[in-house]
Amino acid sequence: MPKLPNLRVNVGGIEMKNPVVAASGTFGYGLEFSRFVDLSRLGAFVTKGVSSRPWPGNRPARIVETRAGMLNAIGLQNVGIEAFLTDKLPRIRKLDTAIIVNIVGREIDEYVAVAKKLSGQDGVAGIELNISCPNIKQGGISFGQNPNLSAEVTQAVKNAAPKKPLIVKLTPNVTDVAAIALAVERGGADAVSLINTLTGMAIDIDARRPVLANITGGLSGPAIKPVALRMVWQVARTVKIPVIGIGGISCWQDAVEFLIAGATAVAVGTANFINPKVTIEIIEGIERYLVKHKMRDVYQLIGSLVTDEPNTQRTPDCCT
Ligand SMILES: Cc1cc2nc3c(=O)[nH]c(=O)nc-3n(C[C@H](O)[C@H](O)[C@H](O)COP(=O)(O)O)c2cc1C
Repeated sequence: MPKLPNLRVNVGGIEMKNPVVAASGTFGYGLEFSRFVDLSRLGAFVTKGVSSRPWPGNRPARIVETRAGMLNAIGLQNVGIEAFLTDKLPRIRKLDTAIIVNIVGREIDEYVAVAKKLSGQDGVAGIELNISCPNIKQGGISFGQNPNLSAEVTQAVKNAAPKKPLIVKLTPNVTDVAAIALAVERGGADAVSLINTLTGMAIDIDARRPVLANITGGLSGPAIKPVALRMVWQVARTVKIPVIGIGGISCWQDAVEFLIAGATAVAVGTANFINPKVTIEIIEGIERYLVKHKMRDVYQLIGSLVTDEPNTQRTPDCCT
């Protein structure tokens, strides 16, 4: 029987058995999905953002479905680092997959406090630094929109947890995402992930009021995929560190597009709400694609985009 292709990837020092990751905020703390997904099959999963103290999040309504995705303004509700370390981590560190802890703060000191507490923890494969949340008043996105602040917070977190691989999560709500990626690479990031949500809005026309209590929210899902793909391609050709591609990935064909564009791994978010088994289907689809195209290693696919001649025929990209 022919050998199956190699799916293993290394993302900035994080060893993954395949390039498929469950994205932050859409997969709880992992265990919530264990009824649907054999978590040990995932390349990695990223926890909900964790802050130095528990955060209650925003008032409802916090979620609204849109025509090709959803808007959310959760406001980074989370249990806080202490409860994460005592209640969540002991249970998830037993899983045979890479666990990445997403961290968030209003100020650099808050990010640093969380990173320090994670620095010596077994079972934390890496830290994802969220400098891109559009739904909190301070911190979050305001770091990620400024190259100097992005580099500064990256460096501070890297110093606080020097042994943990650091992924910095970028916002699409900027003019030049590659410039921010370069800044965080300079600050010591081991990898970047993108994109977080695009700021959007919905209005109830009878009430003439915003649907979300926060007025604006973050758009995710299939609607943002072309924007995400473009940004991943731009960043992957600019920085030397690996890229995790995120944004609207709903099927294996979407994931393959991101890998071709230069992502070393992909993270799946909103699609988990529609089909909780989608991550596994994407792993299997990538494997079948590699076999079909006679590739022995997923690295033959990563960054393999050919741009010299225009394509006249389009392979259907439907997610059925
Ligand atoms: C309900 C919800 C909560 C999220 N929470 C977080 C979070 O805590 N930290 C973070 O970095 N990203 C968070 N995200 C962003 C996702 O991880 C992802 O970057 C974004 O949704 C785009 O991917 P998608 O289109 O596959 O959902 C959240 C997204 C959603 C929909």
